Amino acid sequence: MFAKGTVAMSERRGAKIAGVGKALPEKRLTNFDLEKIVNTNDEWITQRVGIKERRIAAEDEYSSTFSIKAAQDALKAANLPASEIDLILVATSTPDTIFPNTACIVQRAIGATKAGVLDIYCACSGFIYGSSIAWSMIASGAMNHVLVIGVEINSRILNWKDRGSCILFGDGAGAAVFSPCAAGDGLLTFKIGGDGNYGDLLKLVNSGCVKHPEYDGTYITMQGNEVFKQAVRTMNECALQVLEDAGLAPSDVSLLIPHQANIRIIDAVAKRLELPPEKVFVNIEKYGNTTAGTIPIALCEALEENRIKKGDIILMDAFGAGLTWGALLMRWA
Ligand code: UT7
Repeated sequence: MFAKGTVAMSERRGAKIAGVGKALPEKRLTNFDLEKIVNTNDEWITQRVGIKERRIAAEDEYSSTFSIKAAQDALKAANLPASEIDLILVATSTPDTIFPNTACIVQRAIGATKAGVLDIYCACSGFIYGSSIAWSMIASGAMNHVLVIGVEINSRILNWKDRGSCILFGDGAGAAVFSPCAAGDGLLTFKIGGDGNYGDLLKLVNSGCVKHPEYDGTYITMQGNEVFKQAVRTMNECALQVLEDAGLAPSDVSLLIPHQANIRIIDAVAKRLELPPEKVFVNIEKYGNTTAGTIPIALCEALEENRIKKGDIILMDAFGAGLTWGALLMRWA
């Protein structure tokens, strides 16, 4: 069920996150603004989901717009020229175009002349999948520096008549530069998984070569209750797996950076792991669910707020459409 990500540390070098960046649209859409669009209210959204506002891209802003800005900030923080990047991975469900892929557009803009370019379609788990690939490339010695971006312009794929889904999502990007480090530091273990049996629970209909005439456009459809249950289950299982593989206990975790989909999902996962609120990073109130963007944006803000220091055990945990899921465990280096 899981792809295992534990490597024999004595034989391989490690990979760490050397720099992060984020970029969000200026425009804010509050719950009160949403009251004018669908039959909802601030109290319901705040209590049931934990969101107060989300960011919405302007008409001339795309996934590449925010990816480029986040990538440039991450490279600056890592003190690394773009020409040193070996691979760009862009996790997104809203590429500028299917081809050229968004990684290619970023490559050109930042001048990453020698980089390979790949987009990852893995919904909310995309950043974890991308980070797992980055780590494997570096640990194997095949590559030195990998740029992983999580980005979404959800506002373009929402059904603005469906109050069950349109209130949940927002736009934005986060980026991380992965570079080599001593074995045993940086990424310790990862798990990635999926189960296509749950594919109908959360779908971007009319987004590929299958036509869904029963829907009048390309937008997200979701069975919220079922997704909720699977989210809590898979995030919990994934977290316990990476901890067990690393020989650590939940109490060893310094900070949990969970996918920001619903505050009640985050609370349920934290409760099962017996993590107190100060060990859980939450910013859902400001941005909503930016799908592939939530974890790198949250990581960036956790660093800005000095919530992470060298040696800390950081657990990142996500689930998303597919269903897909994944977790990463790091010793911050
Ligand atoms: O990255 C993955 C993305 N997806 C998710 O993370 C979704 C996970 N699921 C959820 O977060 C929750 O299931 C939702 C937030 C989508 C829904 O919350 P819920 O507590 O599961 O509500 P519900 O669907 O059981 O609906 C409860 C009530 C219903 O009214 P009645 O039938 O009890 O009268 C809904 O019609 O709340 C109503 N409702 C709303 N009311 C005001 C549903 N959406 C809204 C809304 N505003 N936006």
